[in-house]
Amino acid sequence: MSDGGVGVPPGGARERKYGPLGTTLVIIPTYNEAENIRPIVDRVRAAVPDAHVLVADDNSPDGTGKIADEIAAEDDHVQVLHRKGKEGLGAAYLAGFRWGLEQGYGVLVEMDADGSHQPEELPRLLTALKGADLVLGSRWVPGGRVVNWPAHRKLLSRGGSTYSRLMLDVPIRDVTGGYRAFRRETLEGLGLDRVASQGYCFQVDLARRSVEAGFHVVEVPITFVEREFGDSKMSRDIVVEALWRVTAWGLTTRAGKLLGRPSGPGRPSGR
Ligand code: GDD
Ligand code: MN
Repeated sequence: MSDGGVGVPPGGARERKYGPLGTTLVIIPTYNEAENIRPIVDRVRAAVPDAHVLVADDNSPDGTGKIADEIAAEDDHVQVLHRKGKEGLGAAYLAGFRWGLEQGYGVLVEMDADGSHQPEELPRLLTALKGADLVLGSRWVPGGRVVNWPAHRKLLSRGGSTYSRLMLDVPIRDVTGGYRAFRRETLEGLGLDRVASQGYCFQVDLARRSVEAGFHVVEVPITFVEREFGDSKMSRDIVVEALWRVTAWGLTTRAGKLLGRPSGPGRPSGR
């Protein structure tokens, strides 16, 4: 594992004691993932047998939610959160986090349904979380890889990560990645009630909030494998939302610094 540790731990001390991890909940948001949902849940259950799974489905027209219900009926480690319609990946994760925190889970994991985030790599992320507040599965640190991505997606992801890193001053190589493990205390410290990001910029939003809150963020290299079945939900709207929000966050923080005002997501101005 390459420890790309960033951020200063709360209190400013490098040496910090981390409590035990508690039970893991893997949250899998789904929209039209009928072909993928069974294989991914099976793989999670095999790779991390103690972990529980929450499928957060936005009433997928292809019946993903119904398949998830069938899996949940057979397996007491699997539950389904049915949402009324497509509201974006960010909203689905927020609902999943809320549910998981209420249920008392100690670790909350984000994972795509399409196999891009390999469940077999999750034990490595969880091991790293023993000494961190947040672990990011990272494509853009040494050892990280992307398999089967067209050149334009690579460019978009690297460009998006670089722009966000520079604009927001976050020392993270893969700011947009969606394979992550949070300690519950980290999520509780991010002001989730104030997160408005709907699409994929949700990931950037949580990363910057974590850094600004002083949490210890560690990037662990992963191999991201492009999906074989179904379609990406990436759209022009999602890119546009990310671009304007990242730009607005960056300008707000800079203006705040110029005026000598501390600004950040923990504060009302840091939306
Ligand atoms: N419930 C719900 N609602 N799920 C959604 C929605 C939604 O509106 N939109 C997407 N999802 C689910 C998909 O079904 C999938 O399980 C996961 O979110 C990721 O969606 P993809 O459409 O496969 O994303 P991607 O491969 O284009 O993007 C991945 O890489 C990005 C960074 O490059 C994701 O990991 C993104 O989170 C990440 O930002
Ligand atoms: Mn995908």
